[in-house]
Formats: sequence, structure tokens, C-alpha cells
Amino acid sequence: MSDQEKSLYMTILMTPDMANFSGKVHGGALLKLLDQVAFACAARYCKSYVVTLSLDQVIFKNPINVGELVSFRANVNYVGSSSLEVGVKVFAEDLRTKKKRHTNSCYFTMVAMGEDGKSIKAPPLELETEFERKLYEAALMRKKMREEIARRNKEITAGIEDYNKDVTEA
Ligand SMILES: CC(C)(COP(=O)(O)OP(=O)(O)OC[C@H]1O[C@@H](n2cnc3c(N)ncnc32)[C@H](O)[C@@H]1OP(=O)(O)O)[C@@H](O)C(=O)NCCC(=O)NCCS
Repeated sequence: MSDQEKSLYMTILMTPDMANFSGKVHGGALLKLLDQVAFACAARYCKSYVVTLSLDQVIFKNPINVGELVSFRANVNYVGSSSLEVGVKVFAEDLRTKKKRHTNSCYFTMVAMGEDGKSIKAPPLELETEFERKLYEAALMRKKMREEIARRNKEITAGIEDYNKDVTEA
């Protein structure tokens, strides 16, 4: 059995300072927590500093209420050379009813960094169970989809002058 630390759990009470104008939890407050969880999971796995390269599939399908207990489960799904995908699954619990609901899942790409500020090799992922193999397969599919989206986007926007204009230009 491998001693790799692939998963990390964090539970946080949603406090009033995290609210938006309608009194629900602010999307930005949740994004910050998601990034912290992904950072901690990836840094512990790599035993090095890591940075966030990208985040995808953040969908706020249901609001989270102030006073609810939110649990994050992060997992290293895939490791390339220096990059790794960390999936984060979020559950919210109403403390009065104890009812839990899955509020969202998203995927971070993190990069392992050396002391000199350059990317370094991340430890190769040891896949031990069928579940881990499925997570890996799904992460690999997402990596290919990201590359495909970037390629097609470049193709569509190539030659469109306005697309590359400075956003502050009129
Ligand atoms: C992440 C970062 C260090 C990568 O720098 P880089 O010069 O591209 O580094 P490398 O060429 O060594 O690539 C590192 C990994 O990132 C991947 N990568 C880099 N750019 C990518 C892109 N646009 N899309 C997908 N993957 C990319 C590479 O494929 C490589 O993965 P691998 O080693 O598993 O094959 C750099 O982009 C950075 O510092 N970004 C800012 C991070 C940050 O500040 N995050 C907080 C948000 S404000």
C-alpha cells in the first residue's frame, strides 16, 4: 500500500462575513476556500510549494446559506510531470436538520514549484484501486478537452484584431 497522501478534507462553518447582498454565501468566498483546499491537498501530496494554474467547472447550482457547515473533499486525480489535477467535491450541511447536499464539484490544475520559482517534477501518482483508476481516466479526458478547447478557441479568434485588444482601449 502506497503512503501517498492523495486526499484532504476540510470543514468550515459559513459565517455572516462570507455573505453576499442577498444573505447567501458569496461565490468569491467559496472560490477562495476551494483554492485553499486545492493548494493544501496538492502541496501535501507534492511536499513542495504549488501554484494554481487553472480552475474549471465551477457551477453554483444551489446557494449555500450562512450558518451551514461546508465540507470539502479534495483528491489528486491525475499527475503529469509538474502539473496535477485536484478535484474538489463540496457538501453543505444544514445543522438543524443534519441534511447534507452536494453543492458542487470542480477541478484545479496545480503546478509543483521549486525554491527558484520554476516548476519541478511532482511525485508520479500510484493508482491503487479501481476508483482511483476511474478518477485518473476522467481527469485525463478533461485534460484533453482543455487542450482541445484552447486549440479551437485560438483557431476561431485567429486574425480577429478586436479579440487581442487591450481591454482599456475604447
Ligand atoms: C504555473 C506556471 C508556473 C507555469 O509556468 P510555465 O513556464 O508554463 O511552466 P512549465 O512550462 O514548466 O509548465 C508547467 C506545467 O504547466 C502546464 N501548463 C503550462 N501552461 C499551460 C496551459 N496554458 N494550459 C495547460 N497546461 C499548462 C505544462 O503543461 C506543465 O505541465 P506538465 O509538467 O505536467 O507537463 C506559471 O504559468 C505561473 O506562475 N502562473 C501563475 C500562477 C499563479 O500565480 N496562480 C495564482 C493566480 S493569480
